[in-house]
Amino acid sequence: MKLKLNNIENVLILGSGVLGLRIGLQSALSGFNTTIYDISQKALVNAEAIQNKILAGLIKTGRITTSDKALAKKRISWTTDPEMAAENPDFISESVTEELELKKKVWHQFGQLCPPHTVFTTNTSFLLPSRFAEDTGRPGRFCAFHFHDVFKANVVDIMPHPGTETWVVALLRELGYKLHQTPVMMKKESPGYVFNAMLMAVLGAAGALVTHDIATIEDVDRSWMGNFKTESGPFGIIDSIGLDTAWHIIKDRKDAKSIRFAALLKSYIDKDRLGLKSGEGFYTYPNPVFLREDFIERNTF
Ligand SMILES: NC(=O)c1ccc[n+]([C@@H]2O[C@H](COP(=O)([O-])OP(=O)(O)OC[C@H]3O[C@@H](n4cnc5c(N)ncnc54)[C@H](O)[C@@H]3O)[C@@H](O)[C@H]2O)c1
Repeated sequence: MKLKLNNIENVLILGSGVLGLRIGLQSALSGFNTTIYDISQKALVNAEAIQNKILAGLIKTGRITTSDKALAKKRISWTTDPEMAAENPDFISESVTEELELKKKVWHQFGQLCPPHTVFTTNTSFLLPSRFAEDTGRPGRFCAFHFHDVFKANVVDIMPHPGTETWVVALLRELGYKLHQTPVMMKKESPGYVFNAMLMAVLGAAGALVTHDIATIEDVDRSWMGNFKTESGPFGIIDSIGLDTAWHIIKDRKDAKSIRFAALLKSYIDKDRLGLKSGEGFYTYPNPVFLREDFIERNTF
C-alpha cells in the first residue's frame, strides 16, 4: 500500500538525542501523534527537558503560542519499550547513534516489529542508506530523510538509495514542507548530502589549523565569525553537533588530516567533553566565550 501524506497520523522517532528530540518536537508541533523511543530512560528525561527549553524559546520569539505548546506536548509520548513504540507508526524517523552496526541492528528490530505499511527513514549524517536498506526488510519503503537543526536551520535532505520506490521520495518531499523544512533532493547517494559535504570541508580545514598548531580554536572561530558574521565558528558548530557524533563520522577515515582531527576529538570525549549536550566541549556552556561581546567586533557600519 502506497502511503499518502494525509494517511500519516502516527510518527515514531528512534533515538531521543540532539536530533531525535528536535525532529520529534517538530513532528508534534506539526500535528502528528509522536512517540519518542530510546533505550535509555535518562536520555528521554533529558530530551523532554531540552524540548521544554526549545518550546520556551519559540514562545518568546512569537513563533508559537502557549496553546500550540500545550497541544504539542499532549501529542508526544515517551517509551523505552520497542513493542509499544512499534504498535502502529505510519512513519519512522531514526536518529540513533551514528554507527553502522547499531543502525543495522535497530532497523532489523523495527523492520520485524512494525506493521507493513510503515515508511522508514534514517537521519544518518554520513552513512549511505543502501548500506543498511536490506536490514529494514522493506528497502523500497526506506530512504534517508536528513534534518539539520530543525528549528534554527530548516533544511531537510532527501536521499533515496537505488531501491527506494519513487512514491516514497514524493511523499517525503510533501512531508518535509509539512514539517516546516525546505526539502533538498539528492539525485544519487553521496556521503554528507549537500550541506554536510561542504561543511565537512570547512570543519576539516579548521581541525588541521589547530592540529598543526597554526592557530588556536578561538582564533579559528574568531576568523570565521568575523568574516561571515555568524553566531558561532567551526568549533562552536562541532560543540552543537556533539563531539562524539563528529568523531563517529571521521573515525574510520584513513587520511592523515582526519586521523589527527579524530585524535583531537577523542581527547575531549575521553574527558566527557561532548559539547553543548554535556555542558562542555571546546567551550563551556551555557555562556561560551564566543558569545561574549568582546570575542569579535559585532558592529557593522
Ligand atoms: N547532532 C547533529 O547535529 C546531527 C545532525 C543531523 C543528523 N544527525 C544524525 O542523527 C543521528 C543521531 O545523532 P545525535 O546527534 O542525535 O546523537 P546523540 O548521541 O545525541 O543521540 C543518540 C541517541 O540514540 C540512542 N540510542 C542508542 N542506541 C539505541 C537503540 N538501540 N535504540 C534506540 N535508541 C538508541 C542513545 O541513547 C541516544 O539518546 C546520527 O545518525 C547523526 O549522524 C546528527
